[in-house]
Amino acid sequence: MSYNFSPFPVLETERLLLREINLDDTKAVFGLRTSKDVNAFITRDIPKNLAQTRGFIDSISNLVAENNGIFWVIQSDLNGELLGTIGLRNFKIEDDYAEIGYEIHPDYQQRGYMNEAFQEVLKFGFQQMKLKTIEAFTHKNNSPSIALLEKHSFVFQPERIDEGFEDNHIYKLVVSD
Ligand SMILES: CC(C)(COP(=O)(O)OP(=O)(O)OC[C@H]1O[C@@H](n2cnc3c(N)ncnc32)[C@H](O)[C@@H]1OP(=O)(O)O)[C@@H](O)C(=O)NCCC(=O)NCCS
Repeated sequence: MSYNFSPFPVLETERLLLREINLDDTKAVFGLRTSKDVNAFITRDIPKNLAQTRGFIDSISNLVAENNGIFWVIQSDLNGELLGTIGLRNFKIEDDYAEIGYEIHPDYQQRGYMNEAFQEVLKFGFQQMKLKTIEAFTHKNNSPSIALLEKHSFVFQPERIDEGFEDNHIYKLVVSD
Protein backbone atom coordinates (compact mmCIF):
# COMPACT_ATOMS: atom_id res chain seq x y z
CA MET A 1 0.00 0.00 0.00
CA SER A 2 1.34 3.47 -0.75
CA TYR A 3 0.64 6.38 1.55
CA ASN A 4 -0.98 9.72 0.94
CA PHE A 5 -0.37 12.50 3.46
CA SER A 6 -2.44 15.08 1.64
CA PRO A 7 -4.37 16.68 3.26
CA PHE A 8 -1.86 16.73 6.09
CA PRO A 9 -3.02 14.55 9.01
CA VAL A 10 -3.19 16.94 11.95
CA LEU A 11 -3.38 15.02 15.23
CA GLU A 12 -4.68 16.18 18.60
CA THR A 13 -4.08 14.92 22.11
CA GLU A 14 -5.22 16.15 25.50
CA ARG A 15 -2.50 18.85 25.71
CA LEU A 16 -0.96 18.92 22.23
CA LEU A 17 -1.47 19.71 18.60
CA LEU A 18 0.65 17.73 16.13
CA ARG A 19 0.80 19.76 12.94
CA GLU A 20 2.71 20.26 9.69
CA ILE A 21 6.05 22.06 9.85
CA ASN A 22 6.42 25.43 8.08
CA LEU A 23 9.01 28.18 7.74
CA ASP A 24 7.54 30.11 10.69
CA ASP A 25 8.99 27.28 12.81
CA THR A 26 12.55 28.08 11.71
CA LYS A 27 13.76 29.66 14.96
CA ALA A 28 12.24 27.01 17.20
CA VAL A 29 13.52 24.17 15.01
CA PHE A 30 16.99 25.77 15.00
CA GLY A 31 16.84 25.82 18.82
CA LEU A 32 15.87 22.16 18.95
CA ARG A 33 18.43 20.94 16.43
CA THR A 34 21.31 22.88 17.99
CA SER A 35 20.49 21.91 21.58
CA LYS A 36 23.44 20.00 23.10
CA ASP A 37 21.02 18.11 25.29
CA VAL A 38 18.78 17.05 22.39
CA ASN A 39 21.81 16.00 20.33
CA ALA A 40 23.55 14.13 23.15
CA PHE A 41 22.69 10.73 21.67
CA ILE A 42 21.86 11.67 18.08
CA THR A 43 24.26 11.70 15.12
CA ARG A 44 23.02 14.22 12.56
CA ASP A 45 23.94 17.40 10.72
CA ILE A 46 23.60 20.35 13.07
CA PRO A 47 22.44 23.55 11.33
CA LYS A 48 24.91 26.43 11.56
CA ASN A 49 22.31 29.13 10.97
CA LEU A 50 18.68 29.87 10.17
CA ALA A 51 19.27 29.51 6.42
CA GLN A 52 20.39 25.90 6.89
CA THR A 53 17.40 25.31 9.15
CA ARG A 54 15.10 26.60 6.41
CA GLY A 55 16.81 24.12 4.06
CA PHE A 56 16.04 21.35 6.54
CA ILE A 57 12.38 22.43 6.78
CA ASP A 58 12.12 22.45 2.98
CA SER A 59 13.57 18.94 2.82
CA ILE A 60 11.01 17.72 5.36
CA SER A 61 8.16 19.41 3.48
CA ASN A 62 9.31 17.65 0.30
CA LEU A 63 9.59 14.31 2.07
CA VAL A 64 5.99 14.62 3.23
CA ALA A 65 4.73 15.99 -0.11
CA GLU A 66 6.25 12.93 -1.83
CA ASN A 67 4.68 10.64 0.80
CA ASN A 68 8.09 9.27 1.75
CA GLY A 69 7.75 10.28 5.37
CA ILE A 70 5.40 11.96 7.79
CA PHE A 71 6.69 14.52 10.26
CA TRP A 72 4.83 16.54 12.85
CA VAL A 73 5.84 19.44 15.02
CA ILE A 74 4.54 19.05 18.53
CA GLN A 75 2.84 22.22 19.68
CA SER A 76 1.50 23.09 23.12
CA ASP A 77 -2.25 23.72 23.23
CA LEU A 78 -1.66 26.02 26.16
CA ASN A 79 0.65 28.64 24.61
CA GLY A 80 1.30 27.53 21.03
CA GLU A 81 5.00 26.86 21.76
CA LEU A 82 6.79 24.33 19.58
CA LEU A 83 7.87 21.64 22.05
CA GLY A 84 9.42 19.05 19.76
CA THR A 85 9.03 16.92 16.66
CA ILE A 86 8.07 13.37 15.82
CA GLY A 87 7.89 11.43 12.59
CA LEU A 88 7.76 8.17 10.69
CA ARG A 89 10.06 7.48 7.72
CA ASN A 90 12.28 4.95 5.94
CA PHE A 91 9.16 3.13 4.86
CA LYS A 92 9.36 -0.40 3.48
CA ILE A 93 5.96 -0.42 1.89
CA GLU A 94 5.95 -4.14 1.05
CA ASP A 95 6.57 -4.95 4.74
CA ASP A 96 4.20 -2.31 6.20
CA TYR A 97 7.26 -1.01 8.00
CA ALA A 98 8.40 2.40 9.25
CA GLU A 99 10.93 3.90 11.63
CA ILE A 100 10.01 6.40 14.30
CA GLY A 101 12.08 9.40 15.36
CA TYR A 102 11.31 11.95 18.08
CA GLU A 103 12.79 14.80 20.09
CA ILE A 104 11.53 17.22 22.65
CA HIS A 105 13.14 20.43 23.89
CA PRO A 106 14.86 20.02 27.29
CA ASP A 107 12.50 22.63 28.82
CA TYR A 108 9.61 20.25 28.11
CA GLN A 109 11.13 16.87 28.87
CA GLN A 110 9.95 14.61 31.69
CA ARG A 111 6.44 16.03 31.64
CA GLY A 112 4.78 13.26 29.69
CA TYR A 113 4.43 15.34 26.52
CA MET A 114 6.43 12.93 24.38
CA ASN A 115 4.52 10.03 25.83
CA GLU A 116 1.29 11.69 24.69
CA ALA A 117 2.57 12.49 21.18
CA PHE A 118 4.17 9.07 20.78
CA GLN A 119 0.92 7.28 21.66
CA GLU A 120 -0.99 9.25 19.01
CA VAL A 121 1.64 8.69 16.31
CA LEU A 122 1.69 4.94 16.99
CA LYS A 123 -2.08 4.95 16.66
CA PHE A 124 -1.81 6.82 13.36
CA GLY A 125 0.86 4.43 12.08
CA PHE A 126 -0.94 1.25 12.96
CA GLN A 127 -4.55 2.33 12.38
CA GLN A 128 -4.39 4.85 9.51
CA MET A 129 -1.25 3.70 7.67
CA LYS A 130 -1.93 0.05 8.56
CA LEU A 131 1.68 -0.50 9.47
CA LYS A 132 2.60 -3.83 11.01
CA THR A 133 6.07 -2.97 12.30
CA ILE A 134 7.59 0.20 13.72
CA GLU A 135 11.23 0.30 14.74
CA ALA A 136 13.33 2.80 16.65
CA PHE A 137 17.10 3.13 16.56
CA THR A 138 18.34 4.62 19.78
CA HIS A 139 21.74 5.02 21.45
CA LYS A 140 22.25 2.30 24.05
CA ASN A 141 22.77 4.93 26.80
CA ASN A 142 19.74 7.02 25.89
CA SER A 143 17.74 6.03 28.96
CA PRO A 144 14.80 8.45 28.50
CA SER A 145 14.33 7.19 24.94
CA ILE A 146 14.58 3.54 25.99
CA ALA A 147 12.12 4.17 28.84
CA LEU A 148 9.66 5.68 26.36
CA LEU A 149 10.05 2.76 23.94
CA GLU A 150 9.65 0.12 26.63
CA LYS A 151 6.59 1.91 28.03
CA HIS A 152 5.04 1.46 24.59
CA SER A 153 5.98 -2.24 24.43
CA PHE A 154 8.86 -1.90 21.96
CA VAL A 155 11.21 -4.87 22.29
CA PHE A 156 15.02 -4.70 22.12
CA GLN A 157 16.50 -6.72 19.23
CA PRO A 158 19.90 -7.77 20.61
CA GLU A 159 20.87 -9.70 17.46
CA ARG A 160 20.43 -6.68 15.18
CA ILE A 161 23.24 -4.22 14.44
CA ASP A 162 22.77 -0.68 13.17
CA GLU A 163 25.64 -0.73 10.64
CA GLY A 164 27.90 2.28 11.11
CA PHE A 165 26.17 3.18 14.39
CA GLU A 166 27.14 0.21 16.54
CA ASP A 167 26.25 2.04 19.77
CA ASN A 168 22.63 2.13 18.69
CA HIS A 169 20.13 -0.41 19.91
CA ILE A 170 17.21 -1.39 17.71
CA TYR A 171 13.74 -1.63 19.26
CA LYS A 172 10.74 -3.06 17.49
CA LEU A 173 6.98 -3.05 17.91
CA VAL A 174 4.91 -5.46 15.85
CA VAL A 175 1.13 -5.62 15.73
CA SER A 176 -0.47 -8.98 15.31
CA ASP A 177 -3.35 -9.38 12.81
C1 LIG B 1 13.76 10.71 24.34
C2 LIG B 1 12.85 11.84 24.78
C3 LIG B 1 11.94 12.24 23.65
C4 LIG B 1 12.00 11.34 25.96
O1 LIG B 1 11.21 12.42 26.42
P1 LIG B 1 10.62 12.50 27.89
O2 LIG B 1 10.23 13.88 28.13
O3 LIG B 1 11.58 11.86 28.83
O4 LIG B 1 9.38 11.53 27.75
P2 LIG B 1 7.95 11.59 28.43
O5 LIG B 1 7.17 12.67 27.81
O6 LIG B 1 7.41 10.23 28.26
O7 LIG B 1 8.21 11.89 29.95
C5 LIG B 1 8.58 10.86 30.85
C6 LIG B 1 8.35 11.27 32.29
O8 LIG B 1 7.53 12.41 32.41
C7 LIG B 1 6.82 12.34 33.67
N1 LIG B 1 5.38 12.50 33.38
C8 LIG B 1 4.61 11.67 32.70
N2 LIG B 1 3.35 12.18 32.58
C9 LIG B 1 3.38 13.37 33.17
C10 LIG B 1 2.42 14.38 33.35
N3 LIG B 1 1.17 14.25 32.87
N4 LIG B 1 2.77 15.49 34.00
C11 LIG B 1 4.02 15.63 34.48
N5 LIG B 1 4.99 14.69 34.32
C12 LIG B 1 4.67 13.58 33.68
C13 LIG B 1 7.10 11.01 34.27
O9 LIG B 1 8.14 11.18 35.23
C14 LIG B 1 7.61 10.24 33.08
O10 LIG B 1 8.50 9.22 33.43
P3 LIG B 1 7.92 7.79 33.88
O11 LIG B 1 6.84 7.41 32.91
O12 LIG B 1 9.11 6.92 33.82
O13 LIG B 1 7.38 7.99 35.24
C15 LIG B 1 13.68 13.06 25.26
O14 LIG B 1 14.56 12.67 26.27
C16 LIG B 1 14.46 13.72 24.12
O15 LIG B 1 13.92 14.47 23.32
N6 LIG B 1 15.75 13.41 24.05
C17 LIG B 1 16.59 14.02 23.02
C18 LIG B 1 16.28 13.52 21.63
C19 LIG B 1 16.44 12.02 21.53
O16 LIG B 1 17.39 11.45 22.06
N7 LIG B 1 15.50 11.39 20.82
C20 LIG B 1 15.50 9.97 20.62
C21 LIG B 1 16.22 9.63 19.40
S1 LIG B 1 16.16 7.90 19.09
